[in-house]
Amino acid sequence: MVNNMVKLTPEVKEVIQNQNPLPIATADKNGKPNVIFVGMWKFIDDETIMIVDNFFKKTANNLKENPKLSIVGYNGESKKSYQIKGSVDYLDKGDRFEEAKSLAESKKLPGKGVVIFHIEEVYDSVYGPHAGEQIA
Ligand SMILES: Cc1cc2nc3c(=O)[nH]c(=O)nc-3n(C[C@H](O)[C@H](O)[C@H](O)COP(=O)(O)O)c2cc1C
Repeated sequence: MVNNMVKLTPEVKEVIQNQNPLPIATADKNGKPNVIFVGMWKFIDDETIMIVDNFFKKTANNLKENPKLSIVGYNGESKKSYQIKGSVDYLDKGDRFEEAKSLAESKKLPGKGVVIFHIEEVYDSVYGPHAGEQIA
């Protein structure tokens, strides 16, 4: 179930856009956490990110059991950091899947599926007085 989605401000989007590789955290149905890096992903719009599943194992299993995701980004120059949480749809057919598959195949990767990440919460996560504050 997707809760209320939020649009990222240009400031937040810039930090996430430049976070490479991007860490992706999931959890299984018992809450056991798992974090991975992804490099093949893009913004669909200001409230949605697509991530290509080429090698997911625990991540794919977790997203089936518990379709929630968290990411974090940090820009060392601007000293900004944001943490984002949301819900996902995992697709292995349809237009978005075909787009992901083409992207993967252009890099000779399998493109097994695509995660559509709907952004629901944004937190300031830089060190200092505002650390952990929810901003959207
Ligand atoms: C720099 C880097 C980029 C990666 N990019 C992707 C990616 O875009 N898609 C993907 O499926 N796996 C990617 N991986 C592999 C995952 O990080 C991870 O190894 C894989 O999902 C298996 O872990 P899991 O069992 O926790 O899911 C990348 C790994 C690294 C180190």
